[in-house]
Amino acid sequence: MLTITVSSLSGGQGKTTTSLFLGRLLSRQGLPTLMLDSDPQHNLTTYLGFELEPNQPTLLEFLKKTVAPEDCIYPTQDNDNLFLIPADDQLDTVQDYLSNSGVGATLLKRRLEAISKIFKVCIIDAPLQRSQICLTVIGAADFLIIPAEA
Ligand SMILES: Nc1ncnc2c1ncn2[C@@H]1O[C@H](COP(=O)(O)OP(=O)(O)O)[C@@H](O)[C@H]1O
Ligand SMILES: [Mg+2]
Repeated sequence: MLTITVSSLSGGQGKTTTSLFLGRLLSRQGLPTLMLDSDPQHNLTTYLGFELEPNQPTLLEFLKKTVAPEDCIYPTQDNDNLFLIPADDQLDTVQDYLSNSGVGATLLKRRLEAISKIFKVCIIDAPLQRSQICLTVIGAADFLIIPAEA
């Protein structure tokens, strides 16, 4: 699985839009694609049509390993090859967990290894602040895309 993180350290640069269109494009070309929403503002999750109940597993549980990884992965309405690990506003609570783990920068990379045979591509929409979540999504990436407002 190739992991691409779309990152920039300010809002409104086009991270979510780039993630969404890249994910749609690759999945519609037949590649099993996992999108990962790592922004507590969860715009990607919303754009893909999800309205989660508070008890539904998200990236928070995926990182903390409190449920099986597969339970955090949702099929999307877009097409059969496009899946999502969603976020909600509770994701912010993972910051302390990541910093206390001592290996926050590599934690997501290790979690993704468990599902790396299932998907060809993983596209991560990064949050805007410089944060522990930001570190772990950059640490998981093979490639970074840094969009910038023209
Ligand atoms: N390539 C682009 N050309 C023009 N507008 C864009 C482009 N990419 C994103 N936008 C617009 O810019 C705004 C911010 O994009 P968004 O993807 O939400 O940024 P971010 O996720 O970095 O906060 C949105 O209104 C979006 O429609
Ligand atoms: Mg965004």
